[in-house]
Amino acid sequence: MAIKRTTESRIKELAIKRGEALNVSTEKAVEKQHAKGKLTARERLDILLDENTFQELDTFAQSPTSKIQGDGVVTGFGNVEGKRVCVFAQDFTIMGGSLGLSHAAKICKVLDFAMKVGCPVIGLNDSGGARIQEGVMSLAGYADIFLRNTMASGVIPQIAAIMGPCAGGAVYSPALMDFIFMVRDTSFMFLTGPDVIKAVLNEDVTFEELGGALTHNQTSGVAHFAAKNEMDGIHQIRRLITYLPSNNMENPPRIKCDDDPNRKEDELATIIPDDPNKPYDMKKIISLVVDRDSFFEVMALYSPNIVIGFARLNGITVGMIANQPKELAGCLDINSSVKGARFVRFCDAFNIPIVTFEDVPGFLPGTNQEWGGVIRHGAKLLYSYCEATVPKILVITRKSYGGAYCVMSSKHIRSDYNVAWPTAEIAVMGAQGAVNIIHRKELNQAKDVEKKRQELIDHYNEELMHPYIAAERGYIDDVIDPRSTRPKIIAALEMLKGKVDLRPKRKHGNIPL
Ligand code: HXC
Repeated sequence: MAIKRTTESRIKELAIKRGEALNVSTEKAVEKQHAKGKLTARERLDILLDENTFQELDTFAQSPTSKIQGDGVVTGFGNVEGKRVCVFAQDFTIMGGSLGLSHAAKICKVLDFAMKVGCPVIGLNDSGGARIQEGVMSLAGYADIFLRNTMASGVIPQIAAIMGPCAGGAVYSPALMDFIFMVRDTSFMFLTGPDVIKAVLNEDVTFEELGGALTHNQTSGVAHFAAKNEMDGIHQIRRLITYLPSNNMENPPRIKCDDDPNRKEDELATIIPDDPNKPYDMKKIISLVVDRDSFFEVMALYSPNIVIGFARLNGITVGMIANQPKELAGCLDINSSVKGARFVRFCDAFNIPIVTFEDVPGFLPGTNQEWGGVIRHGAKLLYSYCEATVPKILVITRKSYGGAYCVMSSKHIRSDYNVAWPTAEIAVMGAQGAVNIIHRKELNQAKDVEKKRQELIDHYNEELMHPYIAAERGYIDDVIDPRSTRPKIIAALEMLKGKVDLRPKRKHGNIPL
């Protein structure tokens, strides 16, 4: 006898099925996850998204091999700080979060969704990689994701969090995204693991040393943030989202600012030491100039001789790039060039004005740098600044020497508003080096070489080591009192709001990769 199916019974059936789908993980697997200091996919999404905003997609999707509802990944959309986002969170409690056909299709669907509506995508990765049982279908699934990550690049912000294993080719989806968050002690990324390294190279290395959060934040530069724990990482993602536009057609959000735009800071007048070879902390200058507590540093642990991050000025999101005299005297080198270049390109892609603070004695000399390709890598930073059409503002606090003068947002490469502090030294090189080259004969003939050298250095400093020759030529727009830096930048940002700049029509440029 056929069972009579009513609307009521069907709704009940749906509730039962959904209940089952939400509880597919075994208690043991969840306990194991918690014991490692890790949260489950749904617990993570609960923290990431604003309360009651999550709308799940594909709850009932299954793979041919797993036959498990949801197929080991939770996907959908919701809000972060009131802004809509698309999300996916791999569920390690289901087949180790491994990626099979349906799992991949679910991720592709949210990526497509995010592209259609123009909103950021946030992926929480925790997976044993390609699902071995699904063979080439898993590999196809990865490639489908990689294509979408590439197509979405520069169109919507893409944020990846690594919250467990991320191995083999699986690392390339996060690597194609804009920002990678890692969690200390519980996350790792590598192409080939410690066992393979031991077998092939007879090298011993732990998971943590090879691909842990600190390794990728300090040494490789693969990751951008190292969170203390998962909660901290998710809160940092929520903070990052507040600075970003939803897509490349929007301007970044402007928030109400309760910090006086005309605030002048006396401390800025004393921060540059009288001795030009003494370091100071550029981050102090940034924090005194931008809206109070708004500086959000990116890649804080990698190549600290350049500082990058988001901040707000009178509520407007800006990308900050600054040489850090406290580290390597603020020199540019391979790593800092690459770090800066990618950040400039992110800001330019997403209409975020770029504010540069410059104190750079030049590129770091040495065979390591030359043989490592500093020419090619330095060119990336130069190319990025040249290409960027967003409002560009430069403040030269002290040294602006040589090629670095040209590279760091100079007027000649389409920077819009360039100012110098009276402490600026804009020249081909520092006095010591210059005197040794241009006065070699005089020095050779001098009776008291050191006395003569000092005289020539003093003369060089007097004649050339100041901002006024650049100001005469219009290479800088003004020499300003350091105390007025904040109001000056804010006035320029307001002026530049409607800026339009163009690039020649082409398929794409050929940045020296
Ligand atoms: C299928 C997998 C799996 C995988 C883990 N599991 N990885 N199932 N395919 N790739 C399953 C396990 O069988 C286990 O199932 C459950 O997930 C939990 O795994 P454990 O090993 O118990 O967890 P743990 O001890 O924490 O170790 C985690 C791990 C380990 C380090 C990730 O599972 C591991 O080494 N997995 C294989 C990683 C790997 O080599 N993947 C392929 C990478 S290459 P049960 O039923 O026992 O709970 C790749 C290519 C991508 O991904 C190419 C893209 C182009």
